[in-house]
Amino acid sequence: MSKRIIFTGGSGKAGRHAVPYLKAKGYDILNVDLKPLDAPGVNTLIADLTESGQAFNALSQHFGFEGYAKGKPPSAPDAVVHFAAIPRVLIEPDNVTFARNVVSTYNVIEAAMKLGCRKVIVASSETTYGVCFAEGDKDFKQFPLEEDYDADPQDSYGLSKVCNEKTARAFAMRYGADIYALRIGNVIEPHEYGPFAGYAASPMTRKRNAWSYIDARDLGEIVHLCLEKDGLGFQVFNATNDTATLNEPTADFLARHFPHTPVTRKLGEREAPLSNRKAREVLGFREAHDWRKYA
Ligand SMILES: NC(=O)c1ccc[n+]([C@@H]2O[C@H](COP(=O)([O-])OP(=O)(O)OC[C@H]3O[C@@H](n4cnc5c(N)ncnc54)[C@H](O)[C@@H]3O)[C@@H](O)[C@H]2O)c1
Repeated sequence: MSKRIIFTGGSGKAGRHAVPYLKAKGYDILNVDLKPLDAPGVNTLIADLTESGQAFNALSQHFGFEGYAKGKPPSAPDAVVHFAAIPRVLIEPDNVTFARNVVSTYNVIEAAMKLGCRKVIVASSETTYGVCFAEGDKDFKQFPLEEDYDADPQDSYGLSKVCNEKTARAFAMRYGADIYALRIGNVIEPHEYGPFAGYAASPMTRKRNAWSYIDARDLGEIVHLCLEKDGLGFQVFNATNDTATLNEPTADFLARHFPHTPVTRKLGEREAPLSNRKAREVLGFREAHDWRKYA
């Protein structure tokens, strides 16, 4: 029987690619969002996840009318993928961004755990590395950016994602569950590769994204691998593509522009500074969409 997956925020930029990707892998999916999603075979339940009651109900309802044929209410989903959020600063006031992201993530993870689900994948962010929405020209503390970095964002959005990782860790410990937080890089949809040649020509314009990105379809693959990999407890994974948005080898570029920033290990020739090495080694991630294919 296919796994029953609840995907929150599936109507957004990342979800509208990840949800069909996961559907094609054979999962039974319910999208939970404030807005509808046009994806064949996937129903959307409209719910505001900042309300705990709505989160509990969204995670314990039938996925569609076919559920009523079974003659009993549904059990907990096999996994929850939580992408719903305000996805950056400057959309809502800072306090609203922080509050909605932190409360909705708490509500979703709590509902999943208390309903008996033991696998949650949450969207964290590149912004936890502290440079993306920093005031002025802040430098990274070391390269590459890996999951053990001392996350230090200044902004309300990045801070909400650091808090969400702590929430995930707390519930994973308390319930003996697998909760994996994906530090997602700048999400790129298939039609968004046009500017990449310019990024490589003017590399300092991509400092805030650590010269890294994630193709929305490759992000779907990382979620798929997380759904299939059990037993890791709480984990953080950078979710980025393999290579930097640079024309020259990564180590040469970093040494030229940031000669005083420590480099903690040898970088691959084209390796993205926001490195996906852990996702490749632990999850077996293999990217399909290097930017050079499209730019
Ligand atoms: N886009 C990026 O470059 C990027 C980078 C790093 C991390 N992320 C994270 O990835 C996730 C998806 O990002 P995205 O770019 O697709 O964002 P998006 O805004 O396009 O999609 C988010 C979806 O969540 C829904 N949502 C928001 N608040 C909700 C609530 N209270 N209840 C139910 N649904 C709600 C929205 O309606 C929207 O459809 C987010 O958690 C975001 O923070 C995105």
